[in-house]
Amino acid sequence: MAQSNLKPGLAVVLVGDDPASTAYVGSKERQCRELGLHSVKLHLPANCSEEVLLGHVAALNADPAIHGILVQCPLPPHLNYAAVVAAINPAKDVDGFHAVNVAKLALEDPTGFVPCTPLGCQRLLLESGIETAGAEVVVVGRSMIVGKPMAMLLMAKGRGGDASVTVVHSRSRDLAAITSRADIVIAALGRPRCLGPQHIREGAVVIDVGINRVPDAASPRGYRLVGDVDFEVVAPRCRAITPVPGGVGPMTIAMLMSNTLKACAQIHQWRAQD
Ligand code: GUN
Repeated sequence: MAQSNLKPGLAVVLVGDDPASTAYVGSKERQCRELGLHSVKLHLPANCSEEVLLGHVAALNADPAIHGILVQCPLPPHLNYAAVVAAINPAKDVDGFHAVNVAKLALEDPTGFVPCTPLGCQRLLLESGIETAGAEVVVVGRSMIVGKPMAMLLMAKGRGGDASVTVVHSRSRDLAAITSRADIVIAALGRPRCLGPQHIREGAVVIDVGINRVPDAASPRGYRLVGDVDFEVVAPRCRAITPVPGGVGPMTIAMLMSNTLKACAQIHQWRAQD
């Protein structure tokens, strides 16, 4: 972006006052400020109608100063998240949740946007020199935000991919028998400390995507954050493991910034060719 005075712009839409969502949105805003990105936060009331929310999305789609749009989920139950995501311009869908971007990931089309958390997990593996080619990777969890895109990224051809991927989930039989064979385990189940030493083989690499609040009377906030992995007992047997907090979370935000930059670059190149 050195050739112009373009400033990548990210809009984050928060509906309601869910404490975890408010905290995530705050981190995203802080990171934008630190990097000098243009940042817009829309905070809408929990009883906001779908029509009003879709009106804001349409305005952001049309706003030339905005290159990335993220609607924080979960939304209050009266709002249809799928309908909201479908209304986002795929060229500004920095979450990678729109059907066009899901398809581009499956097609290995590099112009698409990949969801930030799996992209951050892949980047962690790459930066740590952990080979995925030929590795047995077990992804625990099948969500649209983490599990499914993670599996697609790791089985794609090329650097950071080429893995033999197995996806397990809450209905899988004998989880430990499957995960304990893996060279790399990606834990994205959303259940506090549910993976123990019986799930992880000696020398495995573990990426813990879980961010769970558990009650903690000793903390001034009354809770603390733990992952999906029982870190204290699992860490000693691992070649590498990510902590919670401070592991995958900051990578998710870094990838959001990176996707916003990519959206800005792509939008302006397309316009230059018009
Ligand atoms: N809620 C938790 N993680 C995410 C995310 O990556 N994107 C959005 N939009 N909402 C989330």
